[in-house]
This record gives sequence, C-alpha cells and structure tokens, in this order.
Amino acid sequence: MTDYVTVPKAELHCHIEGAASPTLVMRLAEHYQIDVSSIIDRKGKYRWSDFSTFLQAYDLASSVFKTPGDYSLLSETYFRMLAAEGAIYGEVFISPDHAQAAGLSYRSYVEGLAAGMERAKLDTGIEGRMIAIGVRHFGANAVERVAREVIANPHPLVTGFGLAGDERDGHPSNFSKAFRMADEAGLGLTAHAGEFGGPESISAALDFLGVTRLGHGVRAVEDKSLVRRLIDEKIVLEVCPGSNVALGVYPVLRFHPVNILRNEGVRITLNSDDPPFFATTLGQEYKTVSTTFGLTFEDQLAITRTAIDAAFCDEATKNRLLVRLDSATSDAE
Ligand code: ADE
Ligand code: ZN
Repeated sequence: MTDYVTVPKAELHCHIEGAASPTLVMRLAEHYQIDVSSIIDRKGKYRWSDFSTFLQAYDLASSVFKTPGDYSLLSETYFRMLAAEGAIYGEVFISPDHAQAAGLSYRSYVEGLAAGMERAKLDTGIEGRMIAIGVRHFGANAVERVAREVIANPHPLVTGFGLAGDERDGHPSNFSKAFRMADEAGLGLTAHAGEFGGPESISAALDFLGVTRLGHGVRAVEDKSLVRRLIDEKIVLEVCPGSNVALGVYPVLRFHPVNILRNEGVRITLNSDDPPFFATTLGQEYKTVSTTFGLTFEDQLAITRTAIDAAFCDEATKNRLLVRLDSATSDAE
C-alpha cells in the first residue's frame, strides 16, 4: 500500500485564484464588504453549475484579493498545503487581468505572490514558479497587454506565459503575436486546449502558439494522428482529471483517457487546476488516478519526473529536484 504523502509530487497546472478556499474568500469578502453569497453556499462550498458559471464564480472569488498581503496569504497557504501533500515543486498560473480588475498593479501582484511563496519555501523547501496567463475570452489585445507587462517587469519567479479562459472563444491564431513576444523573452509556453475544444483546437494551439505543454490536451485521444504528433513532438500534457470530471468533460474518472494516453506514450502530468472549486487536491489526483488505473509507486514517480523535466525553471533547480525525487525512491525501497 503506497503512502500517498511519500510520493514526491509536482504540480504544473493550478490557477492561484482558483486555489483560494471558500473560507478565505468569505473572510476577505467580509473585510471588503463584497457579497459572495451567489458563489458560496450555506455549507461553505463553491456554487456553480457549468463551465460558464464556474468562470463567473472564479471571477467573483478573485475580486476579494486586493492587496499584496492578500495575495501573499493566498500563495503561502497554497504552497504550504502542496508541500504537506508531498509536493516538491509547484507552478501557478497568475492572472494579471484579475489583479488589475481588483485594483492591483502587476508588480504589486507578483511581489505579493512571490513573498508568500518564499515564506512557504523557507519552511517546507517547496520550490515554486509563476506562469502569467492571458484570458482567451478577453481577446487578443488583452492577451498581448499581459505579455507586454510581463516582459517589461521581469521577475525571477515568473518563468512562463500561457492562455486560459474559454477555449470555445477565439482562434489560437489571434494570440500568435503575444506568444511570439513571450517566446522571444525566454518564457516557457503553455495553453489550455483540448478541454472544451476537440482535436482541432489542440492542433491549432500547437500550430499557432509554439507551446511545449498543453493545459489538459486530453481530447487528443479522439484523433490517433494527433496522439502520434504529441508523442513525436514530446508535448507534455498538464492533465487535470478531477477538474474534467467536475466540469462534465468525462462522466466518471474510469472513463477519463489519462491512462490510455499514458500507455500510448504521451507524456502526462497530474494536476489540480482549481482545487477547492472541484473538491480536489494534488494529492487526491495522484491517489484517485493511481487507484483507479492501478499505477505503481514507480509509475507515480515517473509522472513527477515528467513534470520536473517539463517545468519552466532553470536546469540547476531541476537537478536539485531530481535528486530529491531519487532519494525518495530509495527511501521507499
Ligand atoms: N481558468 C481557471 N480554470 C480554468 C479552466 N479549467 N479552464 C480554462 N480556464 C480556466
Ligand atoms: Zn486550468
């Protein structure tokens, strides 16, 4: 029987605002006199019914974070929780548009988040990075604005650029320019595709955005030639099974293609996306996927190794993380 905390884990796909617990959101909402009763029920759980209402709930929950201190509390809490579940590395998506809507400058937003990450690292050793995302349904100009802001204000912990939001809105070609700018600035690239869009959405993200990773990407399973392409081009999937089931992309975990893709040879990682919205955690994702599909301790280590390999951080950090991963292997033997 595997002790799930002892499996070293890495998260590549978690939206920091989506990691806020309803309790924290309610506390800040009360402080700032913001009504969040439409998105948090009497039992203290997030309330939404489909992808569109989820995105609306996410927007309102984000609006209660207004100062660098609010954000440092959020990132410290999340990274401590991740470390407590055995994670050694985490990347979080940050959304400058959401910070701006709450009245915070990009710099203050990033500095607040970084302060919380540093505090969690000092205490637990967990390493973290940030990926700035543009919101697809806000349009090409907004996404380019994010890219320009990130490039004009470099921060050592902001190492990636991505695209989130409603995949059903806007063709990837609209965002080529933003991704080209981010690439030239040396940022790692990822985009949400193959969650609510099919194989054609994934192919277009690969063709027009030059990403090395895909957020979700799981609907590639519907097209054999695309699966071959993912393998040939060594694209890494940030798979979020609990999120996909919660949002109705697949009815139950047993029918989720994560293990089919893994067996075909696609490089997959496991992630929590927006954990309290989907009643999950990174530890839960490793555990439920492993028990449902019979993954061994070694299989789980291989998943974490894939994540570290694909991480948007420097080689020296990757090597340090791999040493930790290898020593955990021998501890368990
Ligand atoms: N923003 C937060 N969560 C998201 C998801 N699962 N897909 C797209 N955009 C998101
Ligand atoms: Zn996501």
